[in-house]
Amino acid sequence: MSTSTATEGTFTQKIQRFYDESSRLWERTWGEHMHHGYYGISGRHRKNRRQAQIDLIEELLRWSQVSAADTILDVGCGIGGSTLYLADKYQAKAVGITLSPVQAERASERAAEQGIALHAFEDFADADASAVQFQVTDALATPFPDNSFDFIWSMESGEHMPDKQGFLQECYRQLKPGGTFLMATWCHREVDNLAGPLTNDEKLHLDRLYQLYHLPYVISLGDYGDIAANVGFTHLAMADWSQQVEFFWQDVVNSALDPKVIAGIFQAGTETIRGTAAIALMTTGFSRGLIRYGLLRGSK
Ligand SMILES: C[S@@+](CC[C@H](N)C(=O)[O-])C[C@H]1O[C@@H](n2cnc3c(N)ncnc32)[C@H](O)[C@@H]1O
Repeated sequence: MSTSTATEGTFTQKIQRFYDESSRLWERTWGEHMHHGYYGISGRHRKNRRQAQIDLIEELLRWSQVSAADTILDVGCGIGGSTLYLADKYQAKAVGITLSPVQAERASERAAEQGIALHAFEDFADADASAVQFQVTDALATPFPDNSFDFIWSMESGEHMPDKQGFLQECYRQLKPGGTFLMATWCHREVDNLAGPLTNDEKLHLDRLYQLYHLPYVISLGDYGDIAANVGFTHLAMADWSQQVEFFWQDVVNSALDPKVIAGIFQAGTETIRGTAAIALMTTGFSRGLIRYGLLRGSK
């Protein structure tokens, strides 16, 4: 399943550059959460976009069945939107990892702005309330010891991982026995049904998206389930929430029509301009059933 190649270093740098360049604009325009929103089970509830993003976090937590956590790893943390939310909600110690130094720095600033202490992971035991650490670390090879976290959260970062098996293996390694892993990620449709393998046109659609968002490739939720089981996760559950989140892209399009946002996109640079073009691919990808929003939870 791994597609690790000699170009991986370059690929990692591309992801880093993409988020280094675009994160400030994203925060200014869309806030601290760099993920879809939740528009009700039917996907038809209309609400404030930021509220929809917070609702997605809450709905995912409900689905994860995690009611308490002391130590949390946020894999692909962006500017710490979820990390700080979870640290505060559970009064937990949380580490956020990202490939982007700009994001790690901004996430640390945001922790200070919210009065959440910054603590090195090694000193978490000394923190008496919630505490966080943000660092630039590749999720495929982290410095954290085995069995470090009782909740591992990956919100829309799995699609960036060039080695899906390595990614889930690393999450499993770091999870404490009895802990929960929760992933929400972009997938393509299932292929082991009457719809059959991806058509050439569908492959072309995905290839364009990969280029624009710096994704190595995506897989189906069923494939993630197989990998998770092979890696050792137990109590596996999966769900497809495409319908619940799909409206997000319409919300993004509406806000991107603001002249200030358009100016910001052009100021941010070429990577961001290219990223904007991907919005149409996401919208049509969802409507033709090709792009799916997958959830997976597992225990150790
Ligand atoms: C779409 S953003 C999601 C950010 C955050 N989870 C949120 O919901 O606000 C994807 C994040 O995944 C991170 N990422 C991608 N590949 C990664 C890797 N190999 N290791 C660590 N982080 C990675 C990016 O740096 C970015 O922060």
